Amino acid sequence: MAEHAVAAARGPAPEQSELWRLDGRVALVTGASSGLGARSVHVLHAAGAYVVATARRADRLAQLATECGERIETLAGDITDARHPHRLTERCQALGKLDVLVNNAGVCDDRPIEQQSLDDRLRVIDVNLTSVLDMCRLAAPLLLASPAASVINVASIYGIVASRGPMAAYNATEGALISFTRQLAAQWGERGVRVNALAPGYFPTELTGFLTDPDLDRSIRERTLLGRAPTLQEIDGPLLFLASTASSYMTGQVLVIDGGWTAA
Ligand SMILES: NC(=O)c1ccc[n+]([C@@H]2O[C@H](COP(=O)([O-])OP(=O)(O)OC[C@H]3O[C@@H](n4cnc5c(N)ncnc54)[C@H](OP(=O)(O)O)[C@@H]3O)[C@@H](O)[C@H]2O)c1
Repeated sequence: MAEHAVAAARGPAPEQSELWRLDGRVALVTGASSGLGARSVHVLHAAGAYVVATARRADRLAQLATECGERIETLAGDITDARHPHRLTERCQALGKLDVLVNNAGVCDDRPIEQQSLDDRLRVIDVNLTSVLDMCRLAAPLLLASPAASVINVASIYGIVASRGPMAAYNATEGALISFTRQLAAQWGERGVRVNALAPGYFPTELTGFLTDPDLDRSIRERTLLGRAPTLQEIDGPLLFLASTASSYMTGQVLVIDGGWTAA
């Protein structure tokens, strides 16, 4: 082992809190009005970040802002309206920086592909995929200027394995999101911007009907190695890990949070 590596290994371990803190960093979270997005806002905010939270439902965002208190602002809008990502990045420019971008907004198909109209499919593709590419494109100057930039694309285990539900457009976008994550990590790696994806299994949110369907609950218990559904809070560690210095040598990766569903 080279001498400098030996010296580094013997050096003091960092305070754990330093690795995980986000003080002084600005984070932008899409799909922040409910579920994993709202939870992500709380997690990043609690770690010290200034958070810009967005989604369409202004009342939910206002509630989130009240819960967090200071160091948060909200900007309501439709992420598929080309003007909205512009407004969001302009707001971050006014704040002077963007360090953590969480592309979380997402919707699912509501019927089998053979019953879908083109508009049904485009809605899923526009929210889940096109908006993410657009956010990254517009936020690029800010992210590339940040010394601690981290992009987190919230994908799904259904970007990795098939589901048995009628989710063709959803699965297609989640797979594409994982591929995009790797590609952007390759393009931005040497310029210091890390790009990773989270791939959750079933979490209790509006999207999943809060897992109240007994058949779904049984399927989760049977198919996960942990034999149970997660709590919403079980997104906290993986999200903060990817957002913070704790994952400083990770890029182009997919962190799967599924209780072992895809491992078996
Ligand atoms: N829950 C799970 O089991 C699970 C599993 C794997 C992956 N995921 C992924 O996690 C992410 C969050 O999902 P969730 O489960 O937390 O669902 P959720 O509670 O339904 O949240 C979805 C969020 O996306 C926002 N959104 C939807 N369409 C939008 C649009 N056109 N413009 C702006 N915002 C829009 C919604 O806000 P408004 O309606 O206020 O606009 C909401 O804040 C999604 O990308 C989903 O694919 C979830």
